[in-house]
Amino acid sequence: MTSTNTQYYNKLRQEHVAQGPANLTPAVIAKASGATMTDVDGKEFIDFAGGIGVNNVGHAHPKVVKAIKDQADQFIHTCFHVGMYDSYIELAQKLNTLAPGNFPKKTMFANSGAEAVENAVKVARYATKRPAVIAFENGFHGRTLMTMSLTSKIKPYKYGFGPFAPEVYRVPYAYCYRCPLGCTYPSCDIACADLLESYFITHVDPESCAAIIAEPIQGEGGFITPPPEYFPKLAGIAKKYGILLIMDEVQSGAGRTGKFLASEHWDIEPDIITQAKSLAGGMPLSAVTGRKELMDAPHAGGLGGTYSGNPLSCKAALAVLEILLEDNLLERSRQLGEILQQRFTQLADTHEIIGEVRGKGPMLALELVKDRKTKEPASEAAKELTRICYEKGLVILSCGNFGNVIRTLMPFVITDEQLDRGLSILEDGLQQVIK
Ligand SMILES: Cc1ncc(COP(=O)(O)O)c(C=O)c1O
Repeated sequence: MTSTNTQYYNKLRQEHVAQGPANLTPAVIAKASGATMTDVDGKEFIDFAGGIGVNNVGHAHPKVVKAIKDQADQFIHTCFHVGMYDSYIELAQKLNTLAPGNFPKKTMFANSGAEAVENAVKVARYATKRPAVIAFENGFHGRTLMTMSLTSKIKPYKYGFGPFAPEVYRVPYAYCYRCPLGCTYPSCDIACADLLESYFITHVDPESCAAIIAEPIQGEGGFITPPPEYFPKLAGIAKKYGILLIMDEVQSGAGRTGKFLASEHWDIEPDIITQAKSLAGGMPLSAVTGRKELMDAPHAGGLGGTYSGNPLSCKAALAVLEILLEDNLLERSRQLGEILQQRFTQLADTHEIIGEVRGKGPMLALELVKDRKTKEPASEAAKELTRICYEKGLVILSCGNFGNVIRTLMPFVITDEQLDRGLSILEDGLQQVIK
């Protein structure tokens, strides 16, 4: 292998692969394990991106690999609609138990986060016989027509792709650092949630609303983390009007925030929950879990898909649950969160460029600003920081409407030494960008 391998594949990629699926780094990966990736030139990276939140249990976790191999030896695909298999059913049973709420639940599987959200909306509309869906500013739900319509940010997600799906209404979110109402927490008394009531007068009739869909922590939007009172208040308003609460846990699920589902932090019982990303340790799988009567509302054949809940993915997901819950990796997630919180808070004490540290567990972020008073986003600095980190062997991602938020999505199996090394690269990088 020579140092030209990465360049070679990048050139070939430019020639043959559409530019739409963007590349956040030029890395071409040959092998990945635990919390590291090695490229085609033998360069090793510490991975703080985890395949965008997909590798909570680590790259190629041995139990996940074994589960996939064992299943492949039996059969790869039958289609659940044609020949059922135990892993689909057992996984549904487990996810029903893990979702908050002391009421009967049912689950169905799909392939991607977007597909889970699509199905959640289908279920909500069918069950309520109402068309409208309320979504949030800064929200991200996917790239299919409905999920792109629910998504807030125009570029790159929506630009040029209209017309969008109808009956989507967007309201401000609890972004306290940049409060959309200009208020300050806690004296605001969570006015952003109450705002919904006035939207019901001027934007959409609540009796037309099937669901409110929210991310517990807005992922792509910048790891925006609402205060404790926000979701209980929102859930109360939803209940008052018979509107379902869908929590999109595609990025925040599978232990990412130190609890299995982030909704647990707010002590709410969503009517429907969507999960994907880390659920199956890197295999494509998403889940929609909800109240039994809602999930059973659509007629047989109305939901599903050829590949949905494929056996390799279901077995992988059962292994992931075992790793998180029985092998105590969820505990490590909490521990990681504490270490990161401490390091980031220290960093913020000495670096003016850090406007806010936020998140829960190891789903943590630094919002970079040019000036703490004006809060002008330091978008270029964030871009430069991720580039410097990459050069020094750390893959880390930015997010947020202005691209000025640095987020951590590292695998929980990361060793203390790797974590420390990664954080040191990040800290050195910060020093470099503020010079
Ligand atoms: C909260 C949330 N919902 C939905 C999606 C879409 O998932 P996918 O890319 O698997 O379609 C994402 C992806 O980042 C997400 O973060």
